[in-house]
Amino acid sequence: MAAVPGSLRCLVRLLLMASFVLLQALSAHAITRHYKFNVIMRNVTRLCSTKPILTVNGKFPGPTLYAREDDNVLVKVVNHVTHNVTIHWHGVRQIRTGWSDGPAYITQCPIQPGTSFLYNFTVTGQRGTLLWHAHINWLRATVHGAIVILPKLGVPYPFPTPHKEVVVVLGEWWKADTEVVINQAMQQGVGPNVSDSHTINGHPGPLSDCASSQDGFKLNVENGKTYMLRIINAALNDDLFFKIAGHKFTVVEVDAVYTKPFKTATLLITPGQTTNVLLTADRTAGRYLLSVSPFMDAPVQVDNKTGTATLHYANTISATAPLTLIKPPPQNATTIVSKFVESLRSLNSEEYPANVPLTVDHSLVFTVGVGVNPCAKCINATRLVGTINNVTFIMPSTPILQAHYYNIPGVFTDDFPATPPHKFNYTGSGPKNLQTMKGTRVYRLPYNASVQVVLQDTGIISPESHPIHLHGFNFFVVGNGVGNYNPKTSPSTFNLIDPIERNTIGVPTGGWAAIRFRADNPGVWFMHCHFEVHTSWGLKMVFVVDNGKRPDETLIPPPKDLPQC
Ligand SMILES: *[C@@H]1O[C@H](CO)[C@@H](O)[C@H](O)[C@H]1NC(C)=O
Ligand SMILES: *[C@@H]1O[C@H](CO)[C@@H](O)[C@H](O)[C@H]1NC(C)=O
Ligand SMILES: *[C@@H]1O[C@H](CO)[C@@H](O)[C@H](O)[C@H]1NC(C)=O
Ligand SMILES: *[C@@H]1O[C@H](CO)[C@@H](O)[C@H](O)[C@H]1NC(C)=O
Ligand SMILES: *[C@@H]1O[C@H](CO)[C@@H](O)[C@H](O)[C@H]1NC(C)=O
Ligand SMILES: *[C@@H]1O[C@H](CO)[C@@H](O)[C@H](O)[C@H]1NC(C)=O
Ligand SMILES: *[C@@H]1O[C@H](CO)[C@@H](O)[C@H](O)[C@H]1NC(C)=O
Ligand SMILES: *[C@@H]1O[C@H](CO)[C@@H](O)[C@H](O)[C@H]1NC(C)=O
Ligand SMILES: *[C@@H]1O[C@H](CO)[C@@H](O)[C@H](O)[C@H]1NC(C)=O
Ligand SMILES: *[C@@H]1O[C@H](CO)[C@@H](O)[C@H](O)[C@H]1NC(C)=O
Repeated sequence: MAAVPGSLRCLVRLLLMASFVLLQALSAHAITRHYKFNVIMRNVTRLCSTKPILTVNGKFPGPTLYAREDDNVLVKVVNHVTHNVTIHWHGVRQIRTGWSDGPAYITQCPIQPGTSFLYNFTVTGQRGTLLWHAHINWLRATVHGAIVILPKLGVPYPFPTPHKEVVVVLGEWWKADTEVVINQAMQQGVGPNVSDSHTINGHPGPLSDCASSQDGFKLNVENGKTYMLRIINAALNDDLFFKIAGHKFTVVEVDAVYTKPFKTATLLITPGQTTNVLLTADRTAGRYLLSVSPFMDAPVQVDNKTGTATLHYANTISATAPLTLIKPPPQNATTIVSKFVESLRSLNSEEYPANVPLTVDHSLVFTVGVGVNPCAKCINATRLVGTINNVTFIMPSTPILQAHYYNIPGVFTDDFPATPPHKFNYTGSGPKNLQTMKGTRVYRLPYNASVQVVLQDTGIISPESHPIHLHGFNFFVVGNGVGNYNPKTSPSTFNLIDPIERNTIGVPTGGWAAIRFRADNPGVWFMHCHFEVHTSWGLKMVFVVDNGKRPDETLIPPPKDLPQC
């Protein structure tokens, strides 16, 4: 630049500044965020023993992925381990980009050892907290982390801006290798072992077996300030209660959808669900216990250990200052859960309306539960299986999305039953014959159809709450109840004004939940129980949504680096 005259230099600088400002203005709309996820083994010590676990970038829980609404996100996942891996961006709608959704053999072949895949998606019409996790076998036990979607630049939250935001990932710790746990259970045909502790940000906490009072996650707060906790249930098999001694929460968002704010002392979060709360540090000083404990109101064995952490006021000098304890809710506290679920409403403001489908094109009733099939080599000569409408889903070896896109025959059939093949008293003692059908069946939907699915729990072996997760869509939970859904009387109780909108719903134990969504996302979309044990057993199915007429209603072509099987 030495030879350039001063005035010209000034002009160049002005031009450079102008283009910088222009770039900034553009980036205020949307940018591309680049991430690299190296899947590697790491030795981690918890509960006094060390074991190698699968991690992303050596972290447990894994790194938080940040994006703003409308951003394009590119995540290069590199598999450095001996397991096959895929990653699911749980709750991200993946509009027309099903190739990046992640469930193994549903939308993609696994990323095999020594290979990589670039996930490429845009975050549209969502803001809040979601999670990412491995979506193959039980690898998500340790391969998981938070997704934080900030509102567009300059767009405020519809609630007071918190002083600070903190990600809180709830999970489980297993002394055993979780792949060995599920493989053993599948061989024997019985329920798998349960985890050894619940965790808060990866730690069983100060009250666990083999801990010092210093152990675990510490939430540092200042008196008078308000914090936003972004809480995620990343556990494999347990619905979780979350509490903080001496403090209440104000719920403001679930599954990346704003809610009408309400106060509660206890949160219930099922695996796959997320909850944003405001927490005002309205005590003057001290240390307060955080607790995470299971909810199970059926005779099914769960890990009953309470995970803990501490909330620590800034002016509390010593880490050994008295700790205010808290009693977790009883494991079978159904009334706390129903009260919490009843309080959840969409914000339904002018800016964030609840666009509930008011008419229904496809009215479906799906029984969800377990069954018992013969198995000569199993304990008791029987195998526990999962079912939806009596179909135990068999994973294909060619991904269904590929088969759909390329018209590969013989991979799936599109005859998934719209209603239970046999009517029985679903929540009663059940039919005599507990056997199920096997199949890779899908339910096909035309583009933009409005769909209602009544998810009906069954009492076969035992009723049980099932956290059902739908990929590719949010749905509205228009109704729920105990006992059997009654097509004549139940619809009159539906809320079509401000029902909660989310991607994972806990179907009540021995009851039903009705959800509605518009099939405005072409592709292949998994729906399954987010208890990993039930997914392994076959409590899963697939919706195929055909392309619409316009180019922007059509699935994009597969990326060049899409893994092959
Ligand atoms: C974990 O520790 C064991 C024993 O020290 C060692 O043999 C192994 O290589 C370590 N694994 C990893 C992934 O660091
Ligand atoms: C990401 O996908 C979009 C299409 O949805 C494509 O235009 C873009 O080139 C892709 N980005 C990369 C880095 O592959
Ligand atoms: C499951 O628990 C049983 C009983 O405690 C034990 O014998 C078995 O080794 C455990 N399985 C795994 C994979 O840890
Ligand atoms: C937790 O479960 C174990 C194993 O089922 C049982 O022995 C124990 O009594 C339970 N503890 C509590 C506090 O319920
Ligand atoms: C919940 O469990 C406790 C302890 O096992 C039992 O005493 C109580 O009756 C149960 N409550 C309900 C509503 O089932
Ligand atoms: C299998 O057998 C065991 C003991 O033999 C029994 O406790 C259990 O209830 C049986 N399970 C089923 C599903 O029949
Ligand atoms: C279904 O079974 C439940 C539980 O046994 C019972 O209370 C209910 O009356 C039964 N419903 C019908 C329609 O038979
Ligand atoms: C489920 O399918 C099996 C196998 O065809 C059949 O024996 C059983 O009666 C069916 N049960 C129900 C409830 O539909
Ligand atoms: C989808 O259906 C809704 C309700 O009928 C309608 O308002 C909307 O225009 C449709 N969208 C497309 C792209 O067809
Ligand atoms: C990994 O996936 C490939 C493709 O589906 C499969 O052939 C292979 O058996 C898998 N490997 C393992 C260790 O599961």
